[in-house]
Amino acid sequence: MRISVIGCGYLGAVHASAMAELGHDVVGIDVDERKIAALAAGRPAFYEPGLPEILASATASGRLRFSTDIAAAADAEVHFVAVGTPQSAETGAADVSFVDAAFFALLPHLADGALVVGKSTVPVGTAARLAERLAAEAPHARLAWNPEFLREGFAVKDTLSPDRLVYGIGAGDGHAASVLDHVYRAAIEAGTPRIVTDYATAELVKVAANAFLATKISFINAMSEIADATGADVTALADAIGHDARIGRRFLNAGVGFGGGCLPKDIRGFIARAEELGLHDTLAFLGAVDETNLRQRRRVVDLAVQDLGGTAAGRKVAVLGVTFKPDSDDVRDSPALDIAVSLQELGAEVVVTDPEGLENALARRPDLRAASTTREALFGADLVILATEWNEYRALDPAAAGRLVGERRIIDGRNVLDPAAWRSAGWHYRGIGRP
Ligand code: UDX
Repeated sequence: MRISVIGCGYLGAVHASAMAELGHDVVGIDVDERKIAALAAGRPAFYEPGLPEILASATASGRLRFSTDIAAAADAEVHFVAVGTPQSAETGAADVSFVDAAFFALLPHLADGALVVGKSTVPVGTAARLAERLAAEAPHARLAWNPEFLREGFAVKDTLSPDRLVYGIGAGDGHAASVLDHVYRAAIEAGTPRIVTDYATAELVKVAANAFLATKISFINAMSEIADATGADVTALADAIGHDARIGRRFLNAGVGFGGGCLPKDIRGFIARAEELGLHDTLAFLGAVDETNLRQRRRVVDLAVQDLGGTAAGRKVAVLGVTFKPDSDDVRDSPALDIAVSLQELGAEVVVTDPEGLENALARRPDLRAASTTREALFGADLVILATEWNEYRALDPAAAGRLVGERRIIDGRNVLDPAAWRSAGWHYRGIGRP
């Protein structure tokens, strides 16, 4: 099929490349000339395993082109709108102005029978509003909402082999569903479940999924604090409750909490939308989920100060990891970065390191001291904080690390190290909710 992808940020660049990988003829559009030039040259603006390979093969084969001119989308049969919906600083609501701008820019270029497909995460009600405009101004075209569930670090795999496909379509618009079936034929033939529903449900599926995941993480983090107060072990607790298939073990890892461009923003946007709908108490628990999450960062900082004997001033702290999770260079709302900054503000001499995220971290916080290797970061440290569970940090040898640091103290902010091994190498080891 002939496909356009409007917005070539994280979601759009992955989606455009994956659609071309599936054999479609794709044009990626973005207003940012530098981004488009880099993508056309096969260079994504962010780190994502597997993306450079499919981007290079798709651009080389001619199946994927990029342009800053929306008119280049004119002959596409399907237009995916994949622009960002940033969080508004005042209200916490998702700002849909880029979605609106992309949609209205596209309107004059829609061919007969074209299908516009929203992929951006939007407040419920957005699709119905846009569908009304489409019916009035371009009745020869149709709209569908097809939320994206990709995880950073697994974005290519999640796009090519999704867990499920969700199509929100207008009443009686079976044709939109069959066009999307055609786009995703490979996944459908592989047995991917597909849910065809209305616009509002499709929009809600995305934020509901992220709200549920965030709730799971904050739940286990609250349990970690109870465990710390009682000598219980939150990892054994998670294993035990996780064996109940109704609960499940995934997303029950206690630690510094969740971050990134989706979970924190989506729960805040969801709360704001419920407020707009007059549902003032309905999502109150999500406010608590957000607060519990931010509390974890403060707890780690407090534990660090405690381990340093009551003050961080002048003490050297090595923070391993600045990204919000491994296999990503994304530092948006990153607990690791927040913890590093807080300790520096308390007077500690913080050194951060990360396999991929240093450039982004320094762009946000040029005042941080960064080390390009773990070895350099550890050198002379009074305290080590493992803040992002990159494999390199999981595999650290406690004896070798012990020879580099000034004092053998570690806070395992992701509960990924073996406490016995670290303690027997002479370390003061502390996990989150682990005795
Ligand atoms: C998330 C959703 O998983 C994805 O479906 C959606 O499309 C976008 O938002 P992502 O932000 O890439 O994806 O990260 P994810 O792997 O979900 O992790 C989110 C955060 O939760 C990370 O900071 C991670 O470290 C944290 N986390 C995850 C925990 O603290 N504990 C866990 O058990 C799992």
